[in-house]
Amino acid sequence: AEDGYDLWLRYQPITDTEALETYRDAISGVLIESESPTLDIAREEISRGLNGLLGGNVPMLSGAPEDGALIIGTPQGSEMIAELDLEGLDQINDDGFVIHSTSVRGEPATVIAANTDQGVLYGVYHFLRLIQTQQPIDDLALVQSPRIERRVLNHWDNLDRTVERGYAGFSLWEWHKLPDYLNPRYIDYARANASLGINGTVLTNVNADATVLMPRYLDKVKALADLFRPYGIRVYLTARFSAPMEIGGLETADPLDPDVRAWWQSKVDEIYERIPDFGGFLVKANSEGQPGPGDYDRSHAEGANMLADAVAPHDGIIMWRAFVYSPVADDRHKQAYDEFVPLDGDFHDNVLVQVKNGPIDFQPREPFNPLFGAMPSTSLMMEFQITKEYLGQGTHLAYLAPLFKEALDADTYAQGEGSTVAKVIDGSLSGDTLTAIAGVANTGTDRNWTGSHFNQANWYAYGRLAWNHDLSAEAIADEWVRMTYTNDPDFVEPVKAMMMGSREAVVDYMTPLGLHHLMGESHHYGPAPWIADREREDWTNVYYHRATRDGVGFDRTSEGTNAVGQYAPPVQEMFEDVDRTPEKYLLWFHHVPWDHEVSSGRTLWDELVYRYNRGVEYVRDMRDTWASLEGMIDEQRYRDTEAYLEIQEKEAIWWRDASLSYFQTFSGQEIPEEYELPAHT
Ligand code: GCU
Repeated sequence: AEDGYDLWLRYQPITDTEALETYRDAISGVLIESESPTLDIAREEISRGLNGLLGGNVPMLSGAPEDGALIIGTPQGSEMIAELDLEGLDQINDDGFVIHSTSVRGEPATVIAANTDQGVLYGVYHFLRLIQTQQPIDDLALVQSPRIERRVLNHWDNLDRTVERGYAGFSLWEWHKLPDYLNPRYIDYARANASLGINGTVLTNVNADATVLMPRYLDKVKALADLFRPYGIRVYLTARFSAPMEIGGLETADPLDPDVRAWWQSKVDEIYERIPDFGGFLVKANSEGQPGPGDYDRSHAEGANMLADAVAPHDGIIMWRAFVYSPVADDRHKQAYDEFVPLDGDFHDNVLVQVKNGPIDFQPREPFNPLFGAMPSTSLMMEFQITKEYLGQGTHLAYLAPLFKEALDADTYAQGEGSTVAKVIDGSLSGDTLTAIAGVANTGTDRNWTGSHFNQANWYAYGRLAWNHDLSAEAIADEWVRMTYTNDPDFVEPVKAMMMGSREAVVDYMTPLGLHHLMGESHHYGPAPWIADREREDWTNVYYHRATRDGVGFDRTSEGTNAVGQYAPPVQEMFEDVDRTPEKYLLWFHHVPWDHEVSSGRTLWDELVYRYNRGVEYVRDMRDTWASLEGMIDEQRYRDTEAYLEIQEKEAIWWRDASLSYFQTFSGQEIPEEYELPAHT
């Protein structure tokens, strides 16, 4: 039975006989002239892929090319490729590749070439994707390079194998069996990432445990690093700032203390002795109770630079998180900006500041984080959350590419119109050469890796966008559905349509019109807008929605906390003005009377009711769509999603009813008749 284990790398035989014949005619065999650990993986993958898709009998050739050969390699490793003048080969970077339909020594051939074996492997996966999605391959002239250098997954995995905000079982890393036993699943993890171009993995939780830096754990990390290396995946770790005290016996972790610096230096040397291409550290400091340089009155820059200096001789990097907030700020939205912008220019060259897409915390919708564009002399990297902490976790169907795109395409106006967040992080705005993007992983030990089949699409979409942020959410969904399920347009089109609106539906039934942070305490799952009276105001939910008898929403204009002042003037002016603020952010920036008229002509209250209901309706429509597709895919995966959609409908109703009942106690207004009433009123 299909259990989803193969992800988008299923390589099922093509059922369309005409297409099958065309591909068989086009590819008579595969020719890879040299060997290396990475090329061996490319050879194995192309053979597995083509034999699966084309139903076997795709020979590995040697010697002279024949009509229809697929020739794969680098000019350094292949004489045949060196002889060709392949367009684009001189323009691509180390991870890039070209794929050309051409002729080699007089025979028609397809060539996948790159300047490195790693680029070759990426080209192989891309070529397979073309066939998996049934694209023509007879006239190819593709030249591709990733736009961002470090395309990283952040695993919030603890050493006891629990996963913070993980909804797909336990951690993939079997610390107690490493380094001696290597679960074959590690290989499939590496294949899945390499197929997308993901080239880094932070193995451990940002809420870090210093134990992983002890020699016996470093041996385990080394085993994983050795295994991932030929797939182009570097390993990184999280560094607990107080490690010198916890495992080093020092009395302080002050970043300016010479003993502390020496301790980190020798710790880092110890790591690189085992793992020469170790990527570096990801650090969460002075945030949510984590230790950091602030404990010694040192700045984030002083903390980051101390670690950066330790890894610099080995070409390592530091990814220093900007996710900080504390009860002292008048508005959590503003805090990261206030703490970090004054440090612009102070970070050493091998430091990246890792910024969440929005200013609060991975909500179903947030405006872009005002840090993007505001630190021109610092390398800023993006942090997305693939795991759906605030969007229905393991079960709800929410395709996140539209969320990722919304953030990447947002215009910061930092250097005039067109200064998108994507251009900030890919370095094109500032000429940064160190560029990176991170996604908080949604993987675990569940057979299907991600808890639900549709959650796989979010891992996929993150990887594809990390490679090329110009891809559209729809194009990515199209690829994913075809590779994961079937190329049958009667399935592809409705499923794509369903995915495309699914995140907006979650926004509608959880936090419409710019509402945010209304989820249950700690677990962040169900509705709890009523949470008040916690030890910290910024841990309550009433802090965020500010509902009163006269209205709802957080006034972040110049009359309020002036968070809008953190954006560049054109953006600031837009968010300052209640009539110009896009309605999707209305209550994020404004406290609005219940009878305020919105663009639909409805009052704010009626619009809230409308949107909460629209969210529920969307889920019902998804259930209908899915039901109409029964029999078009395997039974097991059909049933899994069917059941999850049923859960989602129940919970969308729960969200709607709880939220409207609660807000009604302030608005004092009726639910208009055309809508369902909350079940218990
Ligand atoms: C969220 C999440 C925490 C996590 C934190 C972070 O607040 O709920 O579990 O540790 O983000 O990103 O550091």
